[in-house]
Amino acid sequence: MKAISNGERDSPVDRDGWRSASGGDAEGQRFSAGKAKLDASPAELGFGCGALMGRVGRKASLAALGAAYEAGIRFFDSARSYGYGEAEALLGEFLRGRRSGVVISTKFGILPASVGPLSAARRLKPLVRGLLHVAPGARRWLQGSLAAQRSAGHFSVADLHASLEASLRALKTDYVDVLSLHEPSPSVLTSDELFAALEDLVAAGKVRWVGVAAAPQVLEATLAARPSVLRYLQFPCNLFNLDLAKRLAVRERTDFIAVANHPFGGPAGVARGKRLLSLLAAAPTTPAELREKLRPADDAVLADVVLNLVTGGMGIPMVVASMLHLEHLRANLAAMQKSRFDRKELSWLLEVVLLTQAGGKKPEAEKPL
Ligand SMILES: NC(=O)c1ccc[n+]([C@@H]2O[C@H](COP(=O)([O-])OP(=O)(O)OC[C@H]3O[C@@H](n4cnc5c(N)ncnc54)[C@H](OP(=O)(O)O)[C@@H]3O)[C@@H](O)[C@H]2O)c1
Repeated sequence: MKAISNGERDSPVDRDGWRSASGGDAEGQRFSAGKAKLDASPAELGFGCGALMGRVGRKASLAALGAAYEAGIRFFDSARSYGYGEAEALLGEFLRGRRSGVVISTKFGILPASVGPLSAARRLKPLVRGLLHVAPGARRWLQGSLAAQRSAGHFSVADLHASLEASLRALKTDYVDVLSLHEPSPSVLTSDELFAALEDLVAAGKVRWVGVAAAPQVLEATLAARPSVLRYLQFPCNLFNLDLAKRLAVRERTDFIAVANHPFGGPAGVARGKRLLSLLAAAPTTPAELREKLRPADDAVLADVVLNLVTGGMGIPMVVASMLHLEHLRANLAAMQKSRFDRKELSWLLEVVLLTQAGGKKPEAEKPL
Protein backbone atom coordinates (compact mmCIF):
# COMPACT_ATOMS: atom_id res chain seq x y z
CA MET A 1 0.00 0.00 0.00
CA LYS A 2 1.17 3.48 -0.76
CA ALA A 3 1.83 6.44 1.47
CA ILE A 4 1.66 10.14 0.86
CA SER A 5 4.26 12.45 2.30
CA ASN A 6 5.93 15.72 1.59
CA GLY A 7 9.26 13.97 1.50
CA GLU A 8 10.96 16.28 4.00
CA ARG A 9 10.26 14.64 7.28
CA ASP A 10 12.01 11.76 8.86
CA SER A 11 9.38 9.79 10.75
CA PRO A 12 11.01 7.19 12.94
CA VAL A 13 8.63 4.42 13.81
CA ASP A 14 9.32 1.81 16.39
CA ARG A 15 6.56 -0.68 16.36
CA ASP A 16 8.25 -3.95 15.89
CA GLY A 17 7.69 -3.64 12.16
CA TRP A 18 3.93 -3.76 12.57
CA ARG A 19 3.44 -1.07 10.02
CA SER A 20 6.00 -2.25 7.52
CA ALA A 21 3.38 -4.08 5.51
CA SER A 22 2.34 -0.68 4.19
CA GLY A 23 5.52 -0.45 2.12
CA GLY A 24 4.82 0.64 -1.45
CA ASP A 25 6.78 0.37 -4.63
CA ALA A 26 8.68 3.60 -4.94
CA GLU A 27 9.14 5.92 -7.88
CA GLY A 28 6.09 5.19 -9.96
CA GLN A 29 3.88 6.10 -7.03
CA ARG A 30 5.39 9.47 -6.21
CA PHE A 31 3.92 12.87 -6.81
CA SER A 32 5.89 14.12 -9.74
CA ALA A 33 6.45 17.79 -8.98
CA GLY A 34 7.36 19.94 -6.01
CA LYS A 35 8.42 18.30 -2.83
CA ALA A 36 5.12 16.56 -2.33
CA LYS A 37 5.32 12.94 -3.28
CA LEU A 38 3.79 9.58 -2.82
CA ASP A 39 6.16 7.07 -1.32
CA ALA A 40 6.61 4.10 0.89
CA SER A 41 7.53 5.92 4.09
CA PRO A 42 5.81 5.05 7.36
CA ALA A 43 2.21 6.10 7.85
CA GLU A 44 1.58 9.76 8.49
CA LEU A 45 -0.81 12.01 10.26
CA GLY A 46 -2.67 14.65 8.26
CA PHE A 47 -4.56 17.69 9.47
CA GLY A 48 -8.31 17.60 8.90
CA CYS A 49 -9.61 21.09 8.15
CA GLY A 50 -13.29 20.17 8.62
CA ALA A 51 -13.68 22.21 11.80
CA LEU A 52 -11.70 25.28 10.71
CA MET A 53 -13.78 28.48 10.55
CA GLY A 54 -16.72 26.47 11.84
CA ARG A 55 -16.33 24.94 15.28
CA VAL A 56 -13.70 27.60 15.97
CA GLY A 57 -13.04 31.04 14.51
CA ARG A 58 -10.14 32.55 12.60
CA LYS A 59 -7.68 32.98 15.46
CA ALA A 60 -8.01 29.44 16.81
CA SER A 61 -8.03 28.03 13.25
CA LEU A 62 -4.73 29.75 12.42
CA ALA A 63 -3.24 28.68 15.73
CA ALA A 64 -4.16 25.03 15.09
CA LEU A 65 -2.70 25.13 11.58
CA GLY A 66 0.46 26.77 12.91
CA ALA A 67 0.92 24.16 15.63
CA ALA A 68 0.39 21.32 13.16
CA TYR A 69 2.83 22.77 10.64
CA GLU A 70 5.45 23.44 13.31
CA ALA A 71 5.09 19.84 14.44
CA GLY A 72 5.90 18.64 10.92
CA ILE A 73 2.45 17.92 9.51
CA ARG A 74 2.41 18.50 5.77
CA PHE A 75 -0.86 16.95 4.59
CA PHE A 76 -3.94 19.15 4.83
CA ASP A 77 -7.39 17.80 4.05
CA SER A 78 -10.04 20.34 3.18
CA ALA A 79 -13.18 20.71 1.05
CA ARG A 80 -15.02 23.51 -0.73
CA SER A 81 -17.79 23.26 1.84
CA TYR A 82 -15.71 23.29 5.05
CA GLY A 83 -16.07 26.22 7.41
CA TYR A 84 -19.16 27.45 5.51
CA GLY A 85 -16.89 27.88 2.49
CA GLU A 86 -14.19 29.74 4.42
CA ALA A 87 -11.78 26.97 5.45
CA GLU A 88 -9.94 26.82 2.12
CA ALA A 89 -9.25 30.54 2.11
CA LEU A 90 -7.85 30.37 5.60
CA LEU A 91 -5.70 27.38 4.66
CA GLY A 92 -4.48 29.23 1.56
CA GLU A 93 -3.60 32.22 3.67
CA PHE A 94 -1.69 30.06 6.11
CA LEU A 95 0.16 28.17 3.39
CA ARG A 96 1.38 31.26 1.56
CA GLY A 97 5.11 30.73 1.03
CA ARG A 98 4.84 27.09 2.11
CA ARG A 99 2.91 25.64 -0.81
CA SER A 100 5.62 23.55 -2.45
CA GLY A 101 6.32 21.60 0.73
CA VAL A 102 2.79 20.50 1.50
CA VAL A 103 0.09 18.25 0.13
CA ILE A 104 -3.34 19.84 -0.25
CA SER A 105 -6.35 17.61 -0.56
CA THR A 106 -9.69 19.23 -1.29
CA LYS A 107 -13.09 18.12 -2.53
CA PHE A 108 -15.99 19.18 -4.70
CA GLY A 109 -19.65 18.25 -4.89
CA ILE A 110 -20.96 19.84 -1.72
CA LEU A 111 -21.57 23.55 -1.80
CA PRO A 112 -21.38 25.66 1.33
CA ALA A 113 -24.25 27.93 2.20
CA SER A 114 -24.01 31.23 0.39
CA VAL A 115 -20.83 32.79 1.78
CA GLY A 116 -21.91 36.38 1.33
CA PRO A 117 -21.47 38.58 4.37
CA LEU A 118 -25.13 38.34 5.29
CA SER A 119 -25.53 34.60 4.88
CA ALA A 120 -27.44 32.94 7.70
CA ALA A 121 -24.69 30.37 8.26
CA ARG A 122 -22.06 33.00 8.71
CA ARG A 123 -24.14 35.12 11.02
CA LEU A 124 -25.02 32.09 13.11
CA LYS A 125 -21.45 30.92 13.67
CA PRO A 126 -20.68 32.78 16.93
CA LEU A 127 -24.08 31.77 18.29
CA VAL A 128 -23.45 28.14 17.40
CA ARG A 129 -20.01 28.13 19.06
CA GLY A 130 -21.50 29.72 22.18
CA LEU A 131 -24.25 27.12 22.33
CA LEU A 132 -21.77 24.26 22.02
CA HIS A 133 -19.75 25.76 24.83
CA VAL A 134 -22.63 25.95 27.29
CA ALA A 135 -24.54 22.92 26.03
CA PRO A 136 -22.27 20.34 24.37
CA GLY A 137 -25.28 18.01 24.20
CA ALA A 138 -26.79 20.33 21.59
CA ARG A 139 -24.16 19.21 19.07
CA ARG A 140 -26.35 16.62 17.33
CA TRP A 141 -29.26 19.01 16.94
CA LEU A 142 -26.95 21.74 15.66
CA GLN A 143 -25.27 19.39 13.22
CA GLY A 144 -28.67 18.56 11.77
CA SER A 145 -29.68 22.16 11.44
CA LEU A 146 -26.32 23.23 10.00
CA ALA A 147 -26.33 20.35 7.52
CA ALA A 148 -29.29 22.14 5.99
CA GLN A 149 -26.91 25.03 5.28
CA ARG A 150 -24.98 23.02 2.72
CA SER A 151 -26.10 21.59 -0.55
CA ALA A 152 -24.84 18.19 -1.73
CA GLY A 153 -24.78 16.39 -5.07
CA HIS A 154 -23.14 18.99 -7.34
CA PHE A 155 -21.24 16.78 -9.75
CA SER A 156 -21.90 18.18 -13.22
CA VAL A 157 -18.86 19.15 -15.31
CA ALA A 158 -19.81 22.79 -14.86
CA ASP A 159 -20.01 22.27 -11.08
CA LEU A 160 -16.58 20.65 -11.14
CA HIS A 161 -14.96 23.54 -12.98
CA ALA A 162 -16.66 26.21 -10.91
CA SER A 163 -15.77 24.48 -7.66
CA LEU A 164 -12.13 23.85 -8.58
CA GLU A 165 -11.64 27.44 -9.72
CA ALA A 166 -13.13 28.67 -6.45
CA SER A 167 -10.87 26.30 -4.51
CA LEU A 168 -7.75 27.39 -6.37
CA ARG A 169 -8.59 31.05 -5.79
CA ALA A 170 -9.25 30.47 -2.11
CA LEU A 171 -6.18 28.31 -1.63
CA LYS A 172 -4.04 30.82 -3.56
CA THR A 173 -2.45 28.11 -5.66
CA ASP A 174 -2.61 26.95 -9.26
CA TYR A 175 -2.96 23.24 -8.50
CA VAL A 176 -4.27 20.91 -5.84
CA ASP A 177 -2.54 17.65 -5.02
CA VAL A 178 -5.77 15.74 -4.53
CA LEU A 179 -9.27 16.60 -5.71
CA SER A 180 -11.96 14.24 -4.47
CA LEU A 181 -15.61 13.81 -5.26
CA HIS A 182 -17.23 14.70 -1.95
CA GLU A 183 -19.81 12.10 -0.95
CA PRO A 184 -21.13 11.22 -4.42
CA SER A 185 -23.93 8.72 -4.94
CA PRO A 186 -22.88 5.53 -6.77
CA SER A 187 -24.57 6.76 -9.96
CA VAL A 188 -22.14 9.71 -10.18
CA LEU A 189 -19.33 7.21 -10.58
CA THR A 190 -20.76 6.14 -13.93
CA SER A 191 -20.51 9.61 -15.48
CA ASP A 192 -18.02 9.28 -18.35
CA GLU A 193 -18.30 12.99 -19.00
CA LEU A 194 -17.27 13.89 -15.45
CA PHE A 195 -14.30 11.54 -15.42
CA ALA A 196 -13.14 12.74 -18.83
CA ALA A 197 -13.20 16.29 -17.44
CA LEU A 198 -11.22 15.16 -14.41
CA GLU A 199 -8.65 13.51 -16.68
CA ASP A 200 -8.31 16.78 -18.57
CA LEU A 201 -7.66 18.62 -15.31
CA VAL A 202 -4.91 16.14 -14.43
CA ALA A 203 -3.40 16.55 -17.90
CA ALA A 204 -3.53 20.34 -17.47
CA GLY A 205 -1.65 20.08 -14.17
CA LYS A 206 -4.42 21.59 -12.09
CA VAL A 207 -5.01 18.37 -10.18
CA ARG A 208 -2.43 15.71 -9.39
CA TRP A 209 -4.64 13.00 -7.98
CA VAL A 210 -8.35 12.37 -8.35
CA GLY A 211 -10.19 10.70 -5.52
CA VAL A 212 -13.44 9.86 -3.86
CA ALA A 213 -14.27 10.69 -0.25
CA ALA A 214 -17.35 8.74 0.61
CA ALA A 215 -19.23 6.28 2.73
CA PRO A 216 -18.40 2.55 2.67
CA GLN A 217 -21.15 1.41 0.32
CA VAL A 218 -20.14 4.02 -2.28
CA LEU A 219 -16.51 3.05 -2.01
CA GLU A 220 -17.32 -0.56 -2.62
CA ALA A 221 -19.21 0.47 -5.75
CA THR A 222 -16.24 2.66 -6.68
CA LEU A 223 -13.87 -0.27 -6.54
CA ALA A 224 -16.20 -2.44 -8.56
CA ALA A 225 -16.22 -0.06 -11.55
CA ARG A 226 -13.37 2.33 -10.92
CA PRO A 227 -12.58 4.87 -13.63
CA SER A 228 -8.81 4.67 -14.10
CA VAL A 229 -8.28 8.30 -13.15
CA LEU A 230 -9.52 7.54 -9.63
CA ARG A 231 -6.52 6.63 -7.55
CA TYR A 232 -7.32 7.95 -4.10
CA LEU A 233 -9.97 6.76 -1.67
CA GLN A 234 -10.77 8.58 1.53
CA PHE A 235 -13.16 7.01 3.99
CA PRO A 236 -14.04 6.91 7.68
CA CYS A 237 -11.94 4.43 9.61
CA ASN A 238 -12.16 4.30 13.39
CA LEU A 239 -12.72 1.88 16.26
CA PHE A 240 -16.32 1.40 15.12
CA ASN A 241 -15.79 0.63 11.45
CA LEU A 242 -12.33 -0.83 10.92
CA ASP A 243 -13.94 -3.65 9.02
CA LEU A 244 -14.44 -1.48 5.95
CA ALA A 245 -10.69 -1.19 5.41
CA LYS A 246 -10.54 -4.93 5.79
CA ARG A 247 -13.29 -5.48 3.23
CA LEU A 248 -11.55 -3.11 0.82
CA ALA A 249 -8.34 -5.14 1.28
CA VAL A 250 -6.46 -1.89 1.56
CA ARG A 251 -3.16 -3.47 2.52
CA GLU A 252 -2.99 -5.57 -0.60
CA ARG A 253 -4.04 -2.88 -3.11
CA THR A 254 -1.46 -0.97 -5.10
CA ASP A 255 -3.90 0.66 -7.53
CA PHE A 256 -5.13 3.36 -5.15
CA ILE A 257 -4.04 5.31 -2.11
CA ALA A 258 -6.17 4.91 1.00
CA VAL A 259 -6.62 7.77 3.43
CA ALA A 260 -8.54 7.33 6.67
CA ASN A 261 -10.70 10.19 7.92
CA HIS A 262 -12.88 10.60 11.01
CA PRO A 263 -10.43 8.35 12.97
CA PHE A 264 -11.88 9.14 16.40
CA GLY A 265 -15.46 9.06 15.18
CA GLY A 266 -15.86 12.76 15.99
CA PRO A 267 -16.49 14.05 19.52
CA ALA A 268 -19.12 11.38 20.25
CA GLY A 269 -16.73 8.68 19.08
CA VAL A 270 -14.03 9.95 21.45
CA ALA A 271 -16.27 9.25 24.45
CA ARG A 272 -17.38 5.88 23.04
CA GLY A 273 -13.81 4.88 22.27
CA LYS A 274 -12.66 5.70 25.78
CA ARG A 275 -15.54 3.66 27.21
CA LEU A 276 -14.48 0.69 25.09
CA LEU A 277 -10.86 0.99 26.23
CA SER A 278 -11.93 1.33 29.88
CA LEU A 279 -13.98 -1.84 29.48
CA LEU A 280 -10.98 -3.65 28.05
CA ALA A 281 -8.75 -2.30 30.83
CA ALA A 282 -11.15 -3.69 33.42
CA ALA A 283 -11.88 -7.03 31.77
CA PRO A 284 -10.20 -9.92 33.62
CA THR A 285 -9.65 -11.71 30.32
CA THR A 286 -7.48 -8.88 28.96
CA PRO A 287 -3.83 -9.83 29.55
CA ALA A 288 -2.60 -8.18 32.76
CA GLU A 289 0.21 -6.15 31.18
CA LEU A 290 -2.10 -4.84 28.50
CA ARG A 291 -4.69 -3.87 31.11
CA GLU A 292 -2.05 -1.72 32.78
CA LYS A 293 -1.08 -0.06 29.52
CA LEU A 294 -4.72 0.76 28.75
CA ARG A 295 -5.08 2.72 32.00
CA PRO A 296 -6.16 5.44 32.22
CA ALA A 297 -8.12 5.44 28.97
CA ASP A 298 -7.14 9.06 28.27
CA ASP A 299 -6.42 10.98 25.07
CA ALA A 300 -2.93 9.51 24.77
CA VAL A 301 -4.04 5.90 25.11
CA LEU A 302 -6.99 6.49 22.79
CA ALA A 303 -4.71 8.03 20.16
CA ASP A 304 -2.26 5.16 20.48
CA VAL A 305 -4.90 2.47 19.98
CA VAL A 306 -6.89 4.26 17.29
CA LEU A 307 -4.05 5.52 15.13
CA ASN A 308 -2.03 2.34 15.31
CA LEU A 309 -4.97 0.09 14.52
CA VAL A 310 -5.98 2.31 11.60
CA THR A 311 -2.49 2.62 10.14
CA GLY A 312 -0.47 -0.45 11.12
CA GLY A 313 -3.46 -2.70 11.66
CA MET A 314 -5.30 -1.86 8.47
CA GLY A 315 -2.30 -0.86 6.34
CA ILE A 316 -3.62 2.66 5.76
CA PRO A 317 -0.70 5.04 5.16
CA MET A 318 -2.37 8.37 5.93
CA VAL A 319 -4.90 9.34 8.56
CA VAL A 320 -6.48 12.78 8.84
CA ALA A 321 -7.80 13.96 12.17
CA SER A 322 -9.21 17.15 13.56
CA MET A 323 -6.70 18.49 16.09
CA LEU A 324 -7.72 21.94 17.14
CA HIS A 325 -6.45 21.36 20.64
CA LEU A 326 -2.70 21.27 21.06
CA GLU A 327 -2.89 18.36 23.50
CA HIS A 328 -4.68 16.30 20.83
CA LEU A 329 -2.06 17.15 18.24
CA ARG A 330 0.69 16.13 20.67
CA ALA A 331 -1.01 12.90 21.71
CA ASN A 332 -1.62 11.94 18.09
CA LEU A 333 1.90 12.68 16.94
CA ALA A 334 3.36 10.78 19.89
CA ALA A 335 1.17 7.80 19.06
CA MET A 336 2.33 7.85 15.44
CA GLN A 337 5.98 8.04 16.47
CA LYS A 338 6.07 5.25 19.00
CA SER A 339 3.41 3.00 20.43
CA ARG A 340 3.34 1.86 24.07
CA PHE A 341 1.89 -1.42 22.79
CA ASP A 342 3.99 -4.12 21.26
CA ARG A 343 3.03 -5.98 18.11
CA LYS A 344 1.27 -8.80 19.93
CA GLU A 345 -0.80 -6.39 21.98
CA LEU A 346 -1.82 -4.37 18.93
CA SER A 347 -2.80 -7.57 17.14
CA TRP A 348 -4.85 -8.62 20.15
CA LEU A 349 -6.58 -5.24 20.29
CA LEU A 350 -7.25 -5.34 16.57
CA GLU A 351 -8.83 -8.74 16.76
CA VAL A 352 -11.03 -7.78 19.69
CA VAL A 353 -12.14 -4.53 18.06
CA LEU A 354 -12.99 -6.35 14.84
CA LEU A 355 -14.94 -8.93 16.82
CA THR A 356 -16.98 -6.24 18.58
CA GLN A 357 -17.74 -4.66 15.20
CA ALA A 358 -18.85 -7.94 13.77
CA GLY A 359 -21.35 -8.11 16.62
CA GLY A 360 -19.57 -11.20 17.82
CA LYS A 361 -18.05 -11.68 21.22
CA LYS A 362 -18.06 -8.82 23.68
CA PRO A 363 -14.74 -7.17 24.63
CA GLU A 364 -14.77 -9.19 27.85
CA ALA A 365 -14.70 -12.45 25.92
CA GLU A 366 -11.88 -14.87 26.61
CA LYS A 367 -9.07 -14.13 24.21
CA PRO A 368 -5.53 -15.28 24.93
CA LEU A 369 -2.74 -12.94 23.88
N1 LIG B 1 -16.69 12.85 3.70
C1 LIG B 1 -15.51 13.39 3.98
O1 LIG B 1 -14.78 13.80 3.11
C2 LIG B 1 -15.06 13.48 5.42
C3 LIG B 1 -15.91 13.08 6.46
C4 LIG B 1 -15.44 13.18 7.77
C5 LIG B 1 -14.16 13.68 8.02
N2 LIG B 1 -13.37 14.09 6.99
C6 LIG B 1 -12.01 14.63 7.22
O2 LIG B 1 -11.47 14.02 8.38
C7 LIG B 1 -11.14 15.03 9.34
C8 LIG B 1 -11.36 14.48 10.74
O3 LIG B 1 -12.68 14.02 10.90
P1 LIG B 1 -13.66 14.44 12.10
O4 LIG B 1 -13.29 15.79 12.61
O5 LIG B 1 -15.03 14.20 11.62
O6 LIG B 1 -13.40 13.37 13.20
P2 LIG B 1 -12.17 12.94 14.11
O7 LIG B 1 -10.89 13.55 13.69
O8 LIG B 1 -12.29 11.48 14.20
O9 LIG B 1 -12.62 13.49 15.55
C9 LIG B 1 -12.43 14.77 15.89
C10 LIG B 1 -12.66 14.92 17.37
O10 LIG B 1 -11.68 14.16 18.08
C11 LIG B 1 -10.92 15.04 18.89
N3 LIG B 1 -9.59 14.47 19.03
C12 LIG B 1 -8.55 14.46 18.16
N4 LIG B 1 -7.51 13.79 18.68
C13 LIG B 1 -7.89 13.34 19.90
C14 LIG B 1 -7.27 12.59 20.92
N5 LIG B 1 -6.03 12.13 20.80
N6 LIG B 1 -7.97 12.32 22.07
C15 LIG B 1 -9.22 12.77 22.22
N7 LIG B 1 -9.88 13.49 21.27
C16 LIG B 1 -9.20 13.77 20.13
C17 LIG B 1 -11.00 16.37 18.19
O11 LIG B 1 -10.75 17.44 19.08
P3 LIG B 1 -10.19 18.87 18.60
O12 LIG B 1 -10.34 18.98 17.12
O13 LIG B 1 -11.03 19.82 19.33
O14 LIG B 1 -8.75 18.91 19.03
C18 LIG B 1 -12.45 16.36 17.73
O15 LIG B 1 -13.32 16.65 18.80
C19 LIG B 1 -12.04 16.20 8.97
O16 LIG B 1 -11.52 17.42 9.45
C20 LIG B 1 -12.01 16.12 7.47
O17 LIG B 1 -10.80 16.67 6.98
C21 LIG B 1 -13.79 13.97 5.70
